[in-house]
Amino acid sequence: MFRTHTCGELRASHQSQSVTLAGWVQTVRKFGSITFVDLRDRYGITQLLFNESLNTELEKTPLGREFVLQVAGEVAERSNKNLQLPTGDIEILVQSFTILNASATPPFTIQDDTDGGDDLRMKYRYLDLRRTAVRKNLELRYAVNRAARNYLHQQEFLDIETPFLIKSTPEGARDFVVPSRMNPGQFYALPQSPQTFKQLLMVSGYDRYYQIVKCFRDEDLRADRQPEFTQIDCEMAFVEQEDILQMFEGLIKSIFKEVKGIEYTESVQRMTWEEAMWTYGNDKPDIRFGMQLLNLKKPESVYRDRTDARALIDGADFKVFDEAESVIALAVPGAAEYTRKQTDELTDWVKRPQIGMKGLVFIKCLADGTFKSSVDKFYSEERLKSIASACGAQPGDLILIVAGPEERTRKAASELRLEMGERLGLRKKDEFKLLWVLDFPLFEYDEDGNRWVARHHPFTAPKPLQIATMIENEPSITDASKYLDHPYAQIKANAYDMVLNGNEIGGGSIRIYQRELQEKMFAALGMDKEEQQHKFGFLLGAFEYGAPPHGGIAFGFDRLCSILGGSESIRDFIAFPKNNAGRDVMLDAPATIDDKQFDELQIRLDLKS
Ligand code: AMO
Repeated sequence: MFRTHTCGELRASHQSQSVTLAGWVQTVRKFGSITFVDLRDRYGITQLLFNESLNTELEKTPLGREFVLQVAGEVAERSNKNLQLPTGDIEILVQSFTILNASATPPFTIQDDTDGGDDLRMKYRYLDLRRTAVRKNLELRYAVNRAARNYLHQQEFLDIETPFLIKSTPEGARDFVVPSRMNPGQFYALPQSPQTFKQLLMVSGYDRYYQIVKCFRDEDLRADRQPEFTQIDCEMAFVEQEDILQMFEGLIKSIFKEVKGIEYTESVQRMTWEEAMWTYGNDKPDIRFGMQLLNLKKPESVYRDRTDARALIDGADFKVFDEAESVIALAVPGAAEYTRKQTDELTDWVKRPQIGMKGLVFIKCLADGTFKSSVDKFYSEERLKSIASACGAQPGDLILIVAGPEERTRKAASELRLEMGERLGLRKKDEFKLLWVLDFPLFEYDEDGNRWVARHHPFTAPKPLQIATMIENEPSITDASKYLDHPYAQIKANAYDMVLNGNEIGGGSIRIYQRELQEKMFAALGMDKEEQQHKFGFLLGAFEYGAPPHGGIAFGFDRLCSILGGSESIRDFIAFPKNNAGRDVMLDAPATIDDKQFDELQIRLDLKS
C-alpha cells in the first residue's frame, strides 16, 4: 500500500501504530544527530523524526523542499506538542523512507505567507495550488458548487449542457472567435453566456434548467472579471418576476447555510434601481452600512422620507453650489473630530484623477450642537443645522459634500461613501448583506454611437404596462443630448440584479417571448429585418412555435465564491486564471500558431499594426 493514512489524519489515539505516509517535504530541520521533517499533503502536515540510525542514509541523499517522500514508521506522542496543528500531538518515528521524486528548489516558499509575487505564483501555479490558502479557496468553490446543485436538484431543475462553438450572443462584450477549418473563412463565437440556448430550452418544454457553465467575454479585466468565468445559469418557464426572486433567494440562502453555516432568515431587501442610484450613487449598493447620499439639487420626490433639499442651499451666493449640476452630501458617523490634516487628506483624495472632484466641503456637527464648516461664510448656523438634519446627521458626525457635473459627482459621492465605510471598518468581511435591485431601465443611450442599447440584453422584457410605449414610439432621436426626453428613456425592464456586499453577484430578467415584441426590440436597437434574421432567425422562428412565458437569472459563480471566501479577487478562486492582460502566464497563452495550422484554416496572417 502506498500510504495507510494522510498527513492530516493521525492523532494521539493512533499511538504505537505502524503507518506509511506519502507527501511533500515542507521543511527539514536538523538538530545534532536527529532530523525533523514536516511532511505535507492536501489534508495536512505531519512531523517526521529521523533518528541517528537513518542519518548516514540522509547524508547520502539529502532531502530538499518539495521532495516527494514515502515513509514508514511508528506513531509516537510528542514531548513538545504543537497546538496549532491538528496532528500536533504526535510525530512519526521513521523506520524507512523512499524518495519518490526529487524537486528543484521552488521559486517561492509554499506557505500561507508566501514570498512569491503575483506573476511568479501564476507562472508556477501548480506550486501555488499546493498552498493551504489556495487549496481552501478551491475547496470552498467546490462546496458552493455542491450546495447550488443540491438545491436546484431538489427544485427539479435539469442540468443541460449547451454548446461552446456557437454564433455570437450579445451580452455587451466582444466575442472570442474560433476559425472553422471545415468552413473556411467562417468563425464560431464562444458564448458570452448560454442566454439564447436556455430560452430555446424553455420553448422545448424543459421548464427548469440550470448549468454551472463557462462563459467567455473579451472585455477589459478587473479584480472581479476574467475573460473566461463561470456562471450558475438558470431559466424557468411559466413564471413571473416574483417567482424568480423567491426561487433564487432560496438558492443563495441555502448556499449560505451549507457553505458558511449562516442562517439568512430575513427576506432579502429590495430596492428600485432609481432609489439605488439616488441614495447610494450606484446600482450595486453596499448596504452593510448607512451613510446614504442626499442630492441637494434634487426634488423631494426622488427620495423616500426626505425633504426637498434644494431650498437648503439656494440663495446663499455660494457659486460652487449654485453653478453645479449636482451637489451631494453624506454624513460620516463620529468623524466630526477629524483634524485639519485629516480633512485636507480627504480633499486630496477626492481630487485624485480617478475621483475627479475639484474640492470637498465639510460641515462638522459638534457634540455641543453647534456647527463648524468650510462654508461658514455663506451659510448661517441655522442653515447648516437644516442641512445636517436633512442628511440625518447626528452631533459628532462629519458631513462631506461634493459638487460638480451630475454623473461624475454621483460616482465620486458613491466612491467617497465606500471609502469612508472602509476607513470606519463598516465593510466587514464576515457580514453578508443581500439586496435585490429591481426595475432597471430597459434601454441605455449610447451617445457616441447615437443609438439605444439594451441595459441588460436584447431578450429582456419591458414592464407589461410599458410595452405600448415601446410599440407606439419610434427609436430615432434628433438631438442626442436630449435622449432623456425620449419615451424610451422612461421604459423600465422586468430585470433584477442580486447584490452581495456591494458586488453584483447575479442578474437576470423576464424575457420577451413573442416574435413581434422581440422584432420591435431588435429594431429599437437599430437592427433591420435582414440583420435580425441573420443573427437571430433561430430564436424568432422558435417564438412562432408555442414559446411559453419565461425568465431567468445567472450568478457569477467565481464572484460569489470570492465574496464568501472574503477575497477581493476572483482569481484566487479559479485554479488556472488569466492575468489582467488576459494572459495565462503559465502556458504563455495566447500564442502564435504553426504555419500548418494557418494553412489548414486557409487563413493568412496580416496584422494591421
Ligand atoms: P450578466 O451579464 O449580468 O447576465 O452576468 C451574470 C453574472 O455573471 C457575473 N459576470 C462575471 N464574472 C466574472 N467575470 C466576468 N467577466 C463577468 N461578467 C459577468 C456577474 C454577473 O452578475 N445571460 C445573462 C443572465 C440572464 O439574463 O439570465 C447574463 O449573462 O456576477
